[in-house]
Amino acid sequence: MKLTPEQLKQFDEEGYLFFPNYFSPEETAILKGSIPEVFAQRREENVREKTGDVVRTAFAVHTYHPVFEALVHHPRFVEPAEQMLRDKTYIHQFKINGKAAFDGDVWQWHQDYGTWARDDGMPQARAMNIAVFLDEVMPINGPLLLVPGSHKQGVFEAGHDKLTTSYPLWTLDNDTVKKLVDEGGIFEAVGKPGSVLMFHGNLVHGSAGNITPYPRKIVYLTLNAVSNYIRTPTRKEWIAHTDFAPIVPTDADALTRYARRFRQAGLGAFSGSREGRAVGGKGDFELGRTRHGAQTARDGALERLLRGLGLLRRLAVCAHGLTSARH
Ligand code: SIN
Ligand code: MN
Repeated sequence: MKLTPEQLKQFDEEGYLFFPNYFSPEETAILKGSIPEVFAQRREENVREKTGDVVRTAFAVHTYHPVFEALVHHPRFVEPAEQMLRDKTYIHQFKINGKAAFDGDVWQWHQDYGTWARDDGMPQARAMNIAVFLDEVMPINGPLLLVPGSHKQGVFEAGHDKLTTSYPLWTLDNDTVKKLVDEGGIFEAVGKPGSVLMFHGNLVHGSAGNITPYPRKIVYLTLNAVSNYIRTPTRKEWIAHTDFAPIVPTDADALTRYARRFRQAGLGAFSGSREGRAVGGKGDFELGRTRHGAQTARDGALERLLRGLGLLRRLAVCAHGLTSARH
């Protein structure tokens, strides 16, 4: 999918774009249906809330779960990001924020690029987020609040808040936020499951806690321009990835095919899921087992493509390492 010149202008001026119905109900259902087996895992990438034994953020799910691996290669992500960042892009971060019913905690006001610059050594604010709503996001269950135009003013001073929630964050002070909101107002990103929000890495944003019985799950894919790769990572690889190979898009039907296949086969989204260990790697995922004919062949081809992409990424990183060693 290509963005129009008007959409590119809006992204430049306001710092975000919102798309209702970006993914179909079928595609959204396969994503949402995969969440319980992801959130059930006891692994360090699943950061839990202070307030309860529920997942605040599940990082790097695309590295072990085939449905989310298919999602990150979706052309509806890759193409707009390349237009906005004017470069090939790679995955800087992937996370699924649970904002659980009753226990989903606040995300204080912040800029993502502030963290990427300070903690990861990202040279420029040429990175962005793509958020996919898995639940209905309502005014009452902690929607993302964005300050339009705030991305134009560079990186603000921030304090490293390690106390308020279970996840340390570089946060802005109230005076700065008030000044920015006086100028730009607040955009409340509400919408049905399947909606997508794209926003600039320097856009000021946050969200309130969720005291309602309605969870607010959102998938976030952070894409960085390949030439803007991080120079001095300090965080775990699963928080700030160091695989800088450009994303190669798959075909647009990948998620729908997964959805149909699982429905036909009556399977969970990935078999063999068990708490307490990393499961669902590509070896655990048996594609094409229960299907026949052309559909099976296409799905087998998809699996081989995804495996091939993994190999290509690893090769490209090696090549990159060799090249950058010379600079
Ligand atoms: C974030 O800013 O990284 C997440 C905010 C949210 O999910 O509410
Ligand atoms: Mn953020």
